[in-house]
Amino acid sequence: MTEPNEPTDSTARTESNPSAGQFTVTPAAVEGEIDYEKLLERFGADPLTDGQIARFPDHPLLRRRTFYAGRDVDRYLEAAAAGDPHAIVTGRGPSGPMHLGHVLPLYLAKRFQRVTGATVYLPLSDDEKFLAKDQSFDAIGEHTRDNLRDILAVGFDPDRTQIVVDTADADVIYPIAVRLAKHLTPATVDAVYGDQDTVGLQFYPAVQATHLLLPQLVAGRQPTLVPIAVDQDPHVRVCRDVAAREALPVEKPGALLGRFLPSLEGPGKMSSSGDAPSIELTADPETVAETIRTHAYTGGRATLADHRENGGDPTVDVPFQYLRYFFEPDDAALERIAADYRSGELLSGELKEIAIDRITEFLSEHQHRRGELGSLEAELEPFRLPERERRRALERAGVPSPLER
Ligand code: TRP
Repeated sequence: MTEPNEPTDSTARTESNPSAGQFTVTPAAVEGEIDYEKLLERFGADPLTDGQIARFPDHPLLRRRTFYAGRDVDRYLEAAAAGDPHAIVTGRGPSGPMHLGHVLPLYLAKRFQRVTGATVYLPLSDDEKFLAKDQSFDAIGEHTRDNLRDILAVGFDPDRTQIVVDTADADVIYPIAVRLAKHLTPATVDAVYGDQDTVGLQFYPAVQATHLLLPQLVAGRQPTLVPIAVDQDPHVRVCRDVAAREALPVEKPGALLGRFLPSLEGPGKMSSSGDAPSIELTADPETVAETIRTHAYTGGRATLADHRENGGDPTVDVPFQYLRYFFEPDDAALERIAADYRSGELLSGELKEIAIDRITEFLSEHQHRRGELGSLEAELEPFRLPERERRRALERAGVPSPLER
């Protein structure tokens, strides 16, 4: 049924972890202090080797192992090095405004596209979020349009990037999802995702599997890599499983799995639904500063004297972790900050100000590009799949339109 190294029943349900306590990681929920290494055992994915990291385009997210594990990464790396076609798929569930954690895979994908010419597919699963959240299609539609602006602001190359929205591109997505769903049993869905509330949610994995195969169905067999936070790995496993069972002209997509940007209030993922505030991509500088000053968990000491004497701990300090993940790309600068913090020379409040500066700088550039965008319809047009490519995909998937023959 599944590959030997990919147990289907490998969802990290809540499990006890004596050192870190309980944690849960599923596409629907992420809770507790995550043991990232243990997750790989559970999921059957492999830690990235130094050699693999060196072969990827250089990026702090990889260099510092925020993206730390994968599946079938070598196939992708070989194609990228040889100049052969290779693709990236990373998507967005439009259930609310996008925050800092959401841009990590997007900016990583953009770098890969710049350096090796990867084709990037960006699906938006408005159907999934309608089914999973208590929101109307009107509300989800607003988030979809708002999120699209943020995705467009990243600056992908329109000649090598396709954006699809599930309900708006249903002509191509639905027939392929149906074909894949033929081999997706309720037992598999239950095992991988746990109990689903509706048949809609039970069907959705076939839709996300479609996203992951779309580059190959449109443009032919090629290594495809899916950079995502680790909670989305079950979708990759299901896709690999159903792809293997259908005689489709595709290879199994690989995965590049990332840690979560820590929540401002401490370990765990930055959540838009939980209690800890998150920093939205449209936040103005005052809001960023205020949010970090008030809420960021630090690794500083209780008193100034204690801090000067014994120093702070950057490994648990959230402002430092934000710099390390993404916002201070210069390794030497980052190392200096860590050293000054450990020695007690740099105070928690001062470290917060550094993080505020870097994040504000990043956001002001992102927001500038967002502000330059014209009407959504016009901006999106070059990123939409042309009619002939939709047909190619349906033909390759063996589901051509019944009315056009
Ligand atoms: N399911 C993802 C989420 O909830 C969004 C998503 C849809 C996605 N299609 C994808 C992510 C393909 C990666 C690849 O966030």
